Amino acid sequence: MPCIVRAVAVSMLLAYQVLLQAVINQYLNNDLNIFRQLLIFKNKACIISKYKNSVDHQKLRHYNAAVQCLQKLQHPGSCFPHSTTFWFGTSCSHWNFSTKSRHQQTIRIDGKAIAQEIKDEIKAEVELLLEHGLRAPHLTVLLVGSDPASVVYVRNKAKAAEYTGITCEVLRLPESVSERAVLREINFLNSLPDVDGILVQLPLPPQINKRTICDAVRPDRDVDGFNVLNVGRFCVDQEAFMPATPSGVLEIMKRLKIETFGKNAVVCGRSKNVGMPIAMHLHSNGNATTTICHRNTPQEELVKFTRAADIIVTATGVPGLITSDMVSEGVIVIDVGITRMLSDQGQARLVGDVDYAGVSKKASMITPVPGGVGPVTVAMVIKNTLIAYKNTLQKNSLSDQFKK
Ligand SMILES: *[C@@H]1O[C@H](CO)[C@@H](O)[C@H](O)[C@H]1NC(C)=O
Ligand SMILES: *[C@@H]1O[C@H](CO)[C@@H](O)[C@H](O)[C@H]1NC(C)=O
Repeated sequence: MPCIVRAVAVSMLLAYQVLLQAVINQYLNNDLNIFRQLLIFKNKACIISKYKNSVDHQKLRHYNAAVQCLQKLQHPGSCFPHSTTFWFGTSCSHWNFSTKSRHQQTIRIDGKAIAQEIKDEIKAEVELLLEHGLRAPHLTVLLVGSDPASVVYVRNKAKAAEYTGITCEVLRLPESVSERAVLREINFLNSLPDVDGILVQLPLPPQINKRTICDAVRPDRDVDGFNVLNVGRFCVDQEAFMPATPSGVLEIMKRLKIETFGKNAVVCGRSKNVGMPIAMHLHSNGNATTTICHRNTPQEELVKFTRAADIIVTATGVPGLITSDMVSEGVIVIDVGITRMLSDQGQARLVGDVDYAGVSKKASMITPVPGGVGPVTVAMVIKNTLIAYKNTLQKNSLSDQFKK
């Protein structure tokens, strides 16, 4: 047994020497291919760190060469977010080369394509339901007033529903409607047997209390996940509807197989409907070390966190909040911010929180605005409606069995 151990140790040492030679050559020749080979070795390169305090001049030279080489190749802060732990500690576990090398392509996350995929999946399921002689799922949207952005959002949701075969009805109420009248409407919808999803488009006019309205929607039809029962259930890891925007973000991460385990995640924005649930999910289900930054985080602190981040999710509505000097090479950026800006010509356009042009040069993956999280959010509302429908179906079939 000890022989095997020694053999392994020797072969590791050999591998290390090959690697080290490669690193030094690379340093001398500036050959990026060899840096790629170094990436393959990943944690084994940690062995180099053991030579840091070596009395052997040869080894110390190797160590210095390796450090300089790596520092020259990539900004040290970006290449080794945990450089302190790595170079001066003994543990290698914090060292991960998963950051991209410079020649890797940045993936522009195509929210429209992801949304299309989700909608096609829903469509196929709805077709199956209809084939079995069941009714189509139904979503009712309540729209109070005529805020232009809300009108667009509601129209997009109705269009997406229609595409999948889910029926959608939009009830419009005047801006001046009383809270009582809205509650009456919701209670009526709560009682209808063939309404599966109820969604109240926010914001609401000032005479109406948002919380009262959100809590009036039946939790099992609350496809926007705003009812306090759904919020609470989600917080204690129970089955719950999650608001569309955070579920859109998580769906993107799931579909792109974005690794969160043990990563540093920074969420900018602490809103109860977006920032909070995303952070909650990342740290509990995703096992990421999660930091929440918000309007009271001083800029110099924000920069510290974003530079150390493997994943940044930003949902503040502050255009240009995240710039390229604030992020590390290889970071994954999900931009939830949507701000309507008017150009000099008076044209409206949507911008996110991230300076896309700059940050996309460093990021390994990034969502654009528009065309990133937005379309997926819409698809998730429709998906939640299908889930609400299927939950009811299951409940009814269970109670049917009980009757028999
Ligand atoms: C390093 O990151 C990659 C990709 O994200 C992951 O698959 C791997 O498990 C990580 N390794 C360690 C030691 O954390
Ligand atoms: C997170 O960790 C728990 C155990 O602590 C594990 O059951 C779960 O699968 C992990 N989730 C992810 C996404 O890594």
